[in-house]
Amino acid sequence: MTAANGADRYAVMGNPIKHSKSPLIHRLFAEQTGQDLVYEAILVDPEGFAEAVADFIGTAGKGLNVTVPFKQEAWKIADELSERAQRAGAVNTLKVDHSGKLSGDNTDGIGLVRDLTRNLSLTLAGKQLLVLGAGGAVRGILAPLLEQNPSRLLIANRTVERAQQLATEFSDLGELASCGFADLKGIRFDIIINATAAGLQGQVPELPDGIIDSRSCCYDLMYASEPTAFVHYARQRGAQAAFDGLGMLVEQAAESFHIWRGIIPDTAPVIAALRHQ
Ligand code: ATR
Repeated sequence: MTAANGADRYAVMGNPIKHSKSPLIHRLFAEQTGQDLVYEAILVDPEGFAEAVADFIGTAGKGLNVTVPFKQEAWKIADELSERAQRAGAVNTLKVDHSGKLSGDNTDGIGLVRDLTRNLSLTLAGKQLLVLGAGGAVRGILAPLLEQNPSRLLIANRTVERAQQLATEFSDLGELASCGFADLKGIRFDIIINATAAGLQGQVPELPDGIIDSRSCCYDLMYASEPTAFVHYARQRGAQAAFDGLGMLVEQAAESFHIWRGIIPDTAPVIAALRHQ
């Protein structure tokens, strides 16, 4: 079944949702690939996620993106999970099959890796990677990052126990270590990825001096129309390059689109359109 105009229905659910770029991204993908679909943003009550998903399926919805704060709940209600979603403990993409069964996937990590390697032409293999943070966002990116075979991946977090726990949990996938921010003193990295939520308050993690220098590439999972706090901080410290998460946002959406429609859209014009909005 379909929307009133005959198009297949998709949506993103979250709270807040007003500023989500996903409807625009998927509209641009649909135009570019000639796919007949509609994609809306749905604000869901904190307690109402399962019911909202059931309503969406009941009204012939075909697929959902899920954002803060519902990714863990989406993981729980999915009838089946991809391996990467299973590992991540979180789902950002749900696909509804013809019988109403829900498949859960997590495209955040592949979105980050594609932005780093394809759009920004960075090589991760053999490189020293630092990931800042140990929350849900980090859980989603560790497996795809380790698949790229960095020479080492260090997880540093304000609460060191959370970093240790993640390092233990993912240790079967590659060379992983963990520490607190102060322990980073004197270590250098090729690529530094900020996956903390500090930027939501306009803050940056408290790193020792000298961690970022002219050889470091810095990447912030957050995106804003202005340079994010971490991008600004990295540039001030003379980073070779500092990128925000706009490319990751579009790449994770492209992978969701592929899951739903079987077509991979061209992300470059969409990233450019959003950058110049
Ligand atoms: P998310 O899903 O965005 O990862 P989360 O699971 O709540 O959200 O995790 C937030 C992460 O940002 C954590 O690693 C948190 O550090 P703690 O584990 O020590 O709480 C980190 N974080 C949040 N605010 C921060 C700040 N001001 N400085 C450094 N790290 C911060």
